[in-house]
Amino acid sequence: MCGIVGYTGNRQVLDILIEGLEKLEYRGYDSAGIAVHNGEMKIFKSQGNISSLKSKLPSRFEGTSGIAHTRWATHGIPNERNAHPHLSFSGNLVMVHNGIIENSEEIREELFANGYTFVSETDSEVLLNLIDYEYVVSNDNILQALINAQAKAKGSYAIVLLDKNRPGEQVICRHGSPLVMGLDDSGCYTASDIYAISEYATRFVFPENGDIIFAGTDGIREVYTAEGKKKSLEEKKYIVDGRLSGKDGFDHYMMKEIFQQPEIARDLLSKPLPVVSEKYSAEEIDNIFRTIKGVTILGCGTSWHSGLIGRYLLERLARIPANTEYASEYRYRDPVIPSDYLVISISQSGETADTLAANTLVREAGAITLGILNVKNSTLERETDMQIYLEAGPEIGVASTKAYTAQLVRLAQLAERLAWVRGETVNSTLLNGDLRQMAETMTMILKRSGKLKMLADKYSDSNNFLFLGRGLNYPSALEGALKLKEISYIHAEGYPGAEMKHGPIALIDHDFPTMAIATDRENLSKMVSNIKEIKARNGRIIAIIQEGDESVRSIADDYFEIPNVPDLIAPMVTALPLQLFAYYISLNRGCNVDQPRNLAKSVTVE
Ligand code: F6R
Repeated sequence: MCGIVGYTGNRQVLDILIEGLEKLEYRGYDSAGIAVHNGEMKIFKSQGNISSLKSKLPSRFEGTSGIAHTRWATHGIPNERNAHPHLSFSGNLVMVHNGIIENSEEIREELFANGYTFVSETDSEVLLNLIDYEYVVSNDNILQALINAQAKAKGSYAIVLLDKNRPGEQVICRHGSPLVMGLDDSGCYTASDIYAISEYATRFVFPENGDIIFAGTDGIREVYTAEGKKKSLEEKKYIVDGRLSGKDGFDHYMMKEIFQQPEIARDLLSKPLPVVSEKYSAEEIDNIFRTIKGVTILGCGTSWHSGLIGRYLLERLARIPANTEYASEYRYRDPVIPSDYLVISISQSGETADTLAANTLVREAGAITLGILNVKNSTLERETDMQIYLEAGPEIGVASTKAYTAQLVRLAQLAERLAWVRGETVNSTLLNGDLRQMAETMTMILKRSGKLKMLADKYSDSNNFLFLGRGLNYPSALEGALKLKEISYIHAEGYPGAEMKHGPIALIDHDFPTMAIATDRENLSKMVSNIKEIKARNGRIIAIIQEGDESVRSIADDYFEIPNVPDLIAPMVTALPLQLFAYYISLNRGCNVDQPRNLAKSVTVE
């Protein structure tokens, strides 16, 4: 989390930094700051998002080398003191940092003992002062200072350093945290995400763990390993997806992204599933799919929810054992990792720390890895044997919407592919026709968004919500509850229908409404019983039902109809009313839809 951006060259830096920060704001918005070296070092910081920072900047401001930061607080509250860029104890170095220094307290103590004092409570200032200390000890040799500091610091970091005595030069270093550098004829750019600099840079390099890079107005000057050995980095050309541009007339990115879903589904479903690999040929991939004994799916948050649905689809269509795990739990429980399993890591950003760490664990154990990801050139792409791209375009709204449904489409396609190569030929065509209708079905739902606004108006005052579903609708219930809680700050719980009786029913009263996802024909009569049990306790029900279903409509307080779809693909459709319901409630409650409090789009810390 946190976003960093830097530029050194012959262009004015201020606009580059501010535009870069605005594109990185999804990574955190607790505070923001910039430092520009224009002969003297100028630092501006502000609590809150980039607009607050902008209001503090002088109207005229010259300089061609600078760094900037948008923060998601980990160590120390979100205030100006803890905002980046930080100035080192000696006053010589200024730095922005993305990541976490795990042994910062230990290092802080050591630096204290050497006479250092600190202005902020951050681990970032500790890392900076460690570099500052090593700089002095090594007689102003910044390369040696970074070699020494990297040997001592534990954790993850992507940093850009300015040195008061070296105008125009920037020193960049990374371990674990995402970082890309871009080049054009004017100079050299650095950012946490390619989108922050892709408007300017035409060529890109991706620093590896431990790399120490010297950049100047003439581009990348020198690159060293963590041990100080000279190396080079391969330049890549990268075409950035045009779907980034602005909100396209919508009030929020989230709404734009909800409305992009039919187009994305149509695109994905118009071609056979592309599985990309530098390691395996197409025949080898099919052979892997044919011979694996099972599948483990890893993910966090919404990506874990899509993984739960993926498990169901893989078992149902390909008849292969599948399990879905929270990456954060899996990595720490000393799991048994069968080497004949395929391990799928699902991640929109491709940078979620727990998902990456769990993926590393399974790789080291010898399993074959497949990444399902949206952001190209992300760490997950580089660290998996095969990749399936979501092709959903950049997702800016912090609450995941279009990436989720794209994940579901990809998982359905993958389940069909596995079914086919494993000889489950009847199952492999089960979804075909219905999947092709997906885009139209989604469009029909979006046309009914007015009804969801009405429902949101009616229920916006509720402070608690239960989301219920059975079978494939259970992960949908989890996802619906997550959407509501993260953008409207309403307490919401997702439960399997049958589990309600084992505790949650105690919560039910008139003020604790239930969103019942009741589209699943196989389990419908059981869901009807659950709904009746809630009604008998004075609970109110909003039901999502298949068009024309009387059994639930007649007992629900309110309902939303989805066009008729088979149970197996209903989650791709029901996601949309759940997203819209959460969106309208968030608006009614005056919440920040795209940037909910305490959250960040990319969770790059454990
Ligand atoms: C919720 C949401 C998060 C992410 C989670 C994993 O709307 O966006 O729960 O799904 O942080 O992120 P990725 O998919 O980038 O690994």
